[in-house]
Amino acid sequence: MKYNLLKSTMLASAIAVTLPAQAAEVEVLHWWTSGGEAAALNVLKQDLEGQGIGWKDMPVAGGGGTEAMTVLRSRVQAGNAPTAVQMLGFDIQDWAAEGATANLNPLAKKEGWDKVVPAALQRFSKHGGNWVASPVNVHSTNWVWANKKILGELGYDQPPASWGDFIALLDKAKSKGYTALAHGGQAWQDATIFDGVVLSTGGPYFYKKAMVELDSEALGSDTMKTAFDRMRQLRGYVDANFSGRDWNLASAMVIENKAAVQIMGDWAKGEFINAGKKPGEDFMCFRVPGTQGMVTFNSDQFVMFKVGGSSAKSQMAMAKAVMSPKFQSAFNVVKGSVPARTDVPNTDFDACGKKGMKDLAEASASGMLMGSMAHGHAAPAAVKNALYDVVTNHFNSNMSSTDAVSQLVSAIEGAKD
Ligand code: BGC
Repeated sequence: MKYNLLKSTMLASAIAVTLPAQAAEVEVLHWWTSGGEAAALNVLKQDLEGQGIGWKDMPVAGGGGTEAMTVLRSRVQAGNAPTAVQMLGFDIQDWAAEGATANLNPLAKKEGWDKVVPAALQRFSKHGGNWVASPVNVHSTNWVWANKKILGELGYDQPPASWGDFIALLDKAKSKGYTALAHGGQAWQDATIFDGVVLSTGGPYFYKKAMVELDSEALGSDTMKTAFDRMRQLRGYVDANFSGRDWNLASAMVIENKAAVQIMGDWAKGEFINAGKKPGEDFMCFRVPGTQGMVTFNSDQFVMFKVGGSSAKSQMAMAKAVMSPKFQSAFNVVKGSVPARTDVPNTDFDACGKKGMKDLAEASASGMLMGSMAHGHAAPAAVKNALYDVVTNHFNSNMSSTDAVSQLVSAIEGAKD
C-alpha cells in the first residue's frame, strides 16, 4: 500500500516533469482535412511546437466552414470555446458581435498590423475597431486548374480566353472520353463555381450589385438568368458520380489524368503540390475565362476566443506566429493561397502563387477585388446559405433559369436582415 502510494507519487512527479508543455497549448478548430490542407497546417503546428506550444486538433470537415460553425456554436454554448477557430469573413463579425472573441489590440499595435494587412481583410479581422483575428492567407475562387498533358492533347497550350473557348475545350475533352469538368456535387462547391460564373457573365460591377449589395433588380436580371444557363451548361460536363464527392477528390481526377479541369479556389493548388506536381509542367492555373484582372477573394482568419489564464498566453503567441512574414510565406507556399500581408516577398512562391499575388495587388488597386459569396466574404451566413440552396437545387434538377432567378430573389430577400 505504502509502496504503491510512493510509486504513484513518483509517477505523478515524473508526469509533472515530462509534461510541462501541456500548460502551453492551443486548441484549434478548423476544416483543413485534405492532404494539401493538412500539410499546410503542419507548418503552423511545427512553428508553434518550436516555441513549446502544444497543438490540440479539432478538425470538422466541410468547405465554407458551415459544419465547423455548428460545432463551434455548441462549444461556446457549453462555455468551452476553443482557443482559436478558422473562420471566414462575415462569420467573424457575427461571433465578435456576440462578445465571444478576445481583444488582440495590444499585440496588433506592437506588431504594426494596421499598416501591413490590406484594408479588405481588416474589414473582417476587426470588430468595432478591435482586432479579433489573425488573417493567415488570401484565397480566391475564380480559378481553373487544368491538366497540362490533356490540354496539350486537345490543342491548348494557352488558357481559353472567353467563355465560348472554355466550352469548346470542355466539348473536346468530353469527346475524347475524359471527364471534362472535375466536380464534387456539394452545395458549397456548386456555389464556388457560381462565384466565377456570375463574375464572368456580368463583370465586376454586376457581381458587386448582385452578390455584395444584394440588389433585387440585379439578382432578378437577364444577366443572372444567363449565369444560371451557364451553370446548366457546366452540369453537362461533370461525370455521373459527381454527387457528394469531396473537392480534393475532384482535384485528384485532374492530377491523375482523368479529368481536364476543375473550377475551384486556389486551395486546389495545395493538392497538386502535395502530389508532387509542378505548375507549367503538370498543371496550369488560370482565371475563370472572362475574369482575368478580377478577384473574388476569401481569407482564412484565426479568430481568438475568450479564454483565461495560461491559454491566453499561448493564444497570443499563436496570433503573433500566424502574422510573422516568414510564416506567412512558408504557410501560403504550401496552402496555395497568398499572404495576408502586403510586405511578404514572392521569392519562394511558384508561378501560380506569383500570379495570385500579382492579380490580388492589381485587382485591389483597380477596384476589382470582391468578396467571394461562396466563402463568406460577400454577405452574412443567412444570405450565403439561401444562395447555396437555390444554386445547388438548380444544378441538381431540371429547374429553368427563369425559376432559379425568381427563387434567388425571394430567398435572398427573405434572408437579408
Ligand atoms: C477555405 C480554404 C479551404 C477550403 C476547402 C475554404 O472555405 O477558405 O482554406 O482549403 O475551404 O476546405
